[in-house]
Amino acid sequence: MANPFRFGQIVSGELFCNRKSEISQITDNLAGGQSIVLYSPRRYGKTSLLYAVSNGLRSNKILVGYVDFFACNSTEKILLAMSRASAKAIVDEMKSFEKFIKSAAHFFNRIRFSIRFDPNDVGSISVLPELSSRATPMDNLSDALSGLNSYLNKNNKRAAIVLDEFQQIIKVDSNLEAEFRTIIQQQDRIAFAFLGSRMHLLKEMFINKNRPFYRAAKIMELGPITTDELAKFIKKRFAKIGISISGQLALRITERVNGHPDYAQRLCSHIFDIIESNTVDEENVEKGVVNMLVSLTPSFRGIFEELPLRESQVMTILAEHGPIGTFTTKLIQPYEMGTPALHKALSNLRLKDLVFKGKDKNYFILDPFLTEWIRMVSKDEGQFSSCG
Ligand SMILES: Nc1ncnc2c1ncn2[C@@H]1O[C@H](COP(=O)(O)OP(=O)(O)OP(=O)(O)O)[C@@H](O)[C@H]1O
Ligand SMILES: [Mg+2]
Repeated sequence: MANPFRFGQIVSGELFCNRKSEISQITDNLAGGQSIVLYSPRRYGKTSLLYAVSNGLRSNKILVGYVDFFACNSTEKILLAMSRASAKAIVDEMKSFEKFIKSAAHFFNRIRFSIRFDPNDVGSISVLPELSSRATPMDNLSDALSGLNSYLNKNNKRAAIVLDEFQQIIKVDSNLEAEFRTIIQQQDRIAFAFLGSRMHLLKEMFINKNRPFYRAAKIMELGPITTDELAKFIKKRFAKIGISISGQLALRITERVNGHPDYAQRLCSHIFDIIESNTVDEENVEKGVVNMLVSLTPSFRGIFEELPLRESQVMTILAEHGPIGTFTTKLIQPYEMGTPALHKALSNLRLKDLVFKGKDKNYFILDPFLTEWIRMVSKDEGQFSSCG
């Protein structure tokens, strides 16, 4: 029987739960030409949400382009990705590669396009941009966007471009931020959706008044999915393959994952793997959590092991005692940690999006399962040393 849950990748259609108000808010803003920044902790569903928004925009005759900067580790790759996204938005609308290639030179002054047939994938066609070697990166970037903007002007259309993992551009070249800002603001027919999984870095780009993108877009925070909606979704997914789960237990799962959609699907996927009858019970859920933590161990261990000693100690204190407003001497003394070292570690952990300071000024670890995992390994370590 096919597992009805999916995690760790874009989801759509029946695998996508609700987000109705977010879809309509973002669609309305982008359709009206208002650019947005969407941030959230990891895997809250930003990319999947914008995928759903894009489908709605297309049916409103708005062109859509999508760029994922995640793997763009050079300026050239960034420029090529931007050019491809502009071209693809036009090709999708024209529904013809040939038509696009014939007319591209009317809109793009520098970049040239050809059609690429993938030899390894019969029938797969894409647009291959060639940057102008005589132009500066700034000129090529400008051409990639103003080419699309000219097309939109001529056809009285609008477009939205999703720039996913946008914070990556700073890593490649710090000058790109100002260049992007200058060029983006010249495009009167294109709205942009800036997304990123490095919440702190992305937010900083738009709220720090010394940065080029200061207040350049409407800032939106993507929250968890409401537990009611998520519980309904879980029930429906299990029911699809003839497995029943009580409303109460489905709700318990959603509370356990704090409305985090990726964890909800991940946990349910593990529950599905172990279930032996047609009904999910509490024991299945607990076993599912343990299996999920085991399968996440390499990734959690990677995060934990990369942390400097002080930061890992603060993580342990927070996992065992958090949320914490004031770190008392009793909490930090066992680690022989002074207040300056504590504050430095806390500030670094916040920059890494691992620790958050709530509205009530309490610090906590953002990821509830990383918290559980640290508790689990600290306990095992305790048992080990007490045996020794
Ligand atoms: N609306 C939703 N309904 C059901 N599951 C969802 C939804 N949104 C996200 N998910 C779950 O979360 C996973 C991650 O989604 P997605 O990649 O869109 O998140 P993201 O915020 O872009 O992640 P990242 O921080 O890695 O960029 C999906 O594979 C899916 O399991
Ligand atoms: Mg994403």
